[in-house]
Order: sequence, then C-alpha cells, then structure tokens
Amino acid sequence: MSNDPTNPDFDEKIERIKRLAMVVCICKGIPLGKVLPAIKACDNIADVNRMAATGNGGCKGQRCGPRIKMLLRKKHELQGDNSKILETTDDSEE
Ligand code: FES
Repeated sequence: MSNDPTNPDFDEKIERIKRLAMVVCICKGIPLGKVLPAIKACDNIADVNRMAATGNGGCKGQRCGPRIKMLLRKKHELQGDNSKILETTDDSEE
C-alpha cells in the first residue's frame, strides 16, 4: 500500500506533498518564499499579484487568491490593523 510508512516510496511522497503545500500559486508554481516578500510589502491582493507574479495563471487567481487573502489577513491581524482586515475580507478584489 502506498500510504504504508515502510514503503520505500512513502518518504518521497511525503516530500512531494510538502513541496506542493509550499506552492501558493499552483498554476505558475510560485512558492511561498517568493510570495512572502510581496505580502510584507503590499496591503492588497492586486499589489501582491503584481509583485509576486501570482494570480495570472490558468485559473486567474481562483486558487491562489484565497491563499494570498488569508496571508494578508494574518499580516493585518498581527499588525492590529482592523480596517485592513476588513478590506481583505471583502471579495471585490478577487
Ligand atoms: S493558482 Fe495562481 S493563477 Fe492559478
């Protein structure tokens, strides 16, 4: 069975899952490491997309948009900026 930890392919499968989890924009293969600087520098999804080149792949941001929005929301929560938390809760930017 492929989910058996004693299977030699198990570790490789786990590493693949970890790599996929680290990709924010699946369409363009853009990793979290490239998106985080844009999250730090920007306050909205449009600016993050411009800086990190996310959101313009095949799904046009339908998959990465919610992830970017969640990251922005977390940033604003950490900063205690309630007005920006509300902005990132608004769906009009997607
Ligand atoms: S996942 Fe980013 S454009 Fe599709």
